[in-house]
Amino acid sequence: MLYKKIIQPALFRFDPEKVHDFTIKLLSGNIVPWIIRPFLKYEDKKLEVKVGRLTFKNPVGLAAGMDKSCTALRSWEAIGFGFAEAGTVTPLPQEGNEKPRMFRLPEFGGLINRLGFNNPGADKFEENLERMKEVLPDDFMIGVNIGKNKRTDLDDAYQDYKFSFQRCFESADYFTINVSSPNTEGLRQLQQKKFLDEILRSLQELNKELDDTYSSAAKDIFLKIAPDLTEAELDDIIQVSIDNNITGIIATNTTISRATLPDGKYESGGLSGKPLEPIANSVIKYIKKHAGDRLAVIACGGISSYDDVKEKLDIGASLVQIYTGLVYEGPGLVKMIKREMTKNFL
Ligand SMILES: Cc1cc2nc3c(=O)[nH]c(=O)nc-3n(C[C@H](O)[C@H](O)[C@H](O)COP(=O)(O)O)c2cc1C
Repeated sequence: MLYKKIIQPALFRFDPEKVHDFTIKLLSGNIVPWIIRPFLKYEDKKLEVKVGRLTFKNPVGLAAGMDKSCTALRSWEAIGFGFAEAGTVTPLPQEGNEKPRMFRLPEFGGLINRLGFNNPGADKFEENLERMKEVLPDDFMIGVNIGKNKRTDLDDAYQDYKFSFQRCFESADYFTINVSSPNTEGLRQLQQKKFLDEILRSLQELNKELDDTYSSAAKDIFLKIAPDLTEAELDDIIQVSIDNNITGIIATNTTISRATLPDGKYESGGLSGKPLEPIANSVIKYIKKHAGDRLAVIACGGISSYDDVKEKLDIGASLVQIYTGLVYEGPGLVKMIKREMTKNFL
């Protein structure tokens, strides 16, 4: 209430990326998580979900892209998320695309971004991750979302994924292979069978190698896909994912389609939030229909209420992730969803 009536209108008077950077700075400090935790605390054993080797204390997670440097995990945990996905991180630091590159569509509950993997690089990211891991409770799951540098050729992309995977292996609970952001030229081609098979196969080999070397056991791997794929492309992705024994698919990343918006002129980039929801849901249904229990689905796209979560779980998702809904509804959304879930659904 406070957020929607006072905080959000005040924040929306400023440039979206400046507000984002300011918020992340606040959330990365020591004080904010300490202040907000008592207000947002809501736990219930019934919310627990097991996926792959992991137990999530609740199925509501923070989507990738919000915490690209992995500095604000204590706040995500204090807000009540069961897990948070940090990144996308690339081996080398990147500035990303030219600004402005983030836009609100308040009348549609959407955002458009073309950030282009701005991030501090795997070394700095890993330092932050390690620091966060030390202070966070063990039941809070940390996902690391990895991508390729802009300058890396598609043929060498698997090396970039291997680099960040190895770098973050000890502290991550799971990894997400991001081959679906629309703002790095050519990245989505990595969803093609030959590239994807090479990436997933080499990562699973490395996963096994590291499992033997480190104290940390092999990690669950998820693949994050675009909502703009044909059925034939989805069929290939499902098959390659099953063949390489990954845990599941995150469906979906942002869309380059504007079909769910009224005719008009829009910024270029990936569209998220409400206009993405029906497109993402049809991808989730397709995956569940064709992969059944062989792949878990983490559903992402347009969640801004308990009903949206219920729909995602009803069509077969095991876990959900939120980004844009948090911008529009505020941090109280997570507690509200969990409370309604324990009341109505479980
Ligand atoms: C500003 C912004 C930046 C994002 N950056 C990333 C990213 O770095 N990596 C990624 O996998 N997804 C990224 N995403 C996509 C989200 O993780 C999510 O898949 C998408 O926004 C759909 O969920 P939503 O409708 O709840 O926002 C980004 C989304 C937004 C709005």
